[in-house]
Amino acid sequence: MATTEPLNQWETAALKTQLAHWRTQYDGLRGGNLKLDLSRGKPGLEQISLSDGLDGVLDGNFIAADGTDTRNYGGVRGIAEARGLGSELMGVPAENIIAAGNSSLSVMHLVLRTATDLGLWSDERTWSRSDKRKLLAPVPGYDRHFALSEHFGIELIPIPMTEHGPDMEAARAAVSDPSVKGIWCVPKYANPTGCTYDHDTVAALAQLPALAAADDFVVLWDNAYAVHDLGDEGDVLASVFDAANTAGTGDHVVQFASTSKITHAGAGVAFIAASTTVLNALDKHLSVFTIGPDKVNQLRHVKFLQGRLQDHMADHATIIRPKFDLVEEIFSRELGGLGIAQWTKPRGGYFVSLDVRPGLARKIIAMAKDVGLTLTPAGATFPYGNDPQDQNIRIAPTFGSMEEIHAAMDILTLCIKAASAEQILAGL
Ligand SMILES: Cc1ncc(COP(=O)(O)O)c(C=O)c1O
Repeated sequence: MATTEPLNQWETAALKTQLAHWRTQYDGLRGGNLKLDLSRGKPGLEQISLSDGLDGVLDGNFIAADGTDTRNYGGVRGIAEARGLGSELMGVPAENIIAAGNSSLSVMHLVLRTATDLGLWSDERTWSRSDKRKLLAPVPGYDRHFALSEHFGIELIPIPMTEHGPDMEAARAAVSDPSVKGIWCVPKYANPTGCTYDHDTVAALAQLPALAAADDFVVLWDNAYAVHDLGDEGDVLASVFDAANTAGTGDHVVQFASTSKITHAGAGVAFIAASTTVLNALDKHLSVFTIGPDKVNQLRHVKFLQGRLQDHMADHATIIRPKFDLVEEIFSRELGGLGIAQWTKPRGGYFVSLDVRPGLARKIIAMAKDVGLTLTPAGATFPYGNDPQDQNIRIAPTFGSMEEIHAAMDILTLCIKAASAEQILAGL
């Protein structure tokens, strides 16, 4: 490259020449039968293989610590030692935890369903009393939270993410509307920005139910990446459980986690943490839904992870850290100083969030697709697929091999450079 001056300050002739070069490179990729993918927030083969020891760990002993035979029905809240595992993950006392089935999304579904129809407090406060129901959605955020909310006919109100967590001024202003019933949060290594909410933001979120006009407001705390540090020292997330108890809002915070990205994705154990009042209300719905969770799998997980959760997560980090480093290295090398993109450098979790020049995300994703690279669909990180600036792209580097990520990042950065140069030249 001629220079690493911001691209919009290049001489027009130099930029045109450079664009022609990038275009030639891009055209050379056509018809190459490439099949690359940076869209899947899934653990790679090496990662899931770390937990193959789950198979056989029980060695014929299916009896839980309290004598429960896990092969038989019952125990809607899960076995005690699985609730203990949830306690270790979420930093909440085991008596405040339900150890459920294989997916935290399904227990989020349960909570939204209960909040809507039965109420989370076993009283008259159900969301279905209100004609309109809304949830606050920090953006960019997790598309499945949006899909779940839409499934229940709940409108989503975007709240900007800052480097400290959701913009609390915007959140406080929004909760004066009584139809706003809660807020989605991914508090540690947020999907997709990688942000860990700071202590003030956690405290402010714990106070939000007390400020809300709705008396049935809930903070939905999806701590999916609670132990998913990339380095030796992870980010420290303040306890929302303690903060809510201090703020007197303990009945209005419901937490979620799962082992999906700890052991086998979609074949693990999910957890809910909440006050006794809320857990009692959830029990009513849950006990109609199932006679009990898969306790055999719960016991397997406890035996497999007991006393070695940290080491196990360090093994994950050893596998995926080089992939995140590679993304950072190629972004810096190819785009550094050009002023055409910003990206996050997460200290944990599964994603890198990339912002390109406004108006270009959709185009770049389409350009990449045309030469064999699949990226997360444009707008996916915003409710209704509507990224108002058309600039955010979620990068998921865990699934592919180093070679695939390298090839994919070369293509992505080439598309960003070519599309940006075209846009700049078109605006001159
Ligand atoms: C923030 C967040 N929550 C939940 C999930 C899914 O969790 P589970 O497999 O437990 O349903 C994901 C998966 O990517 C996620 O990123």
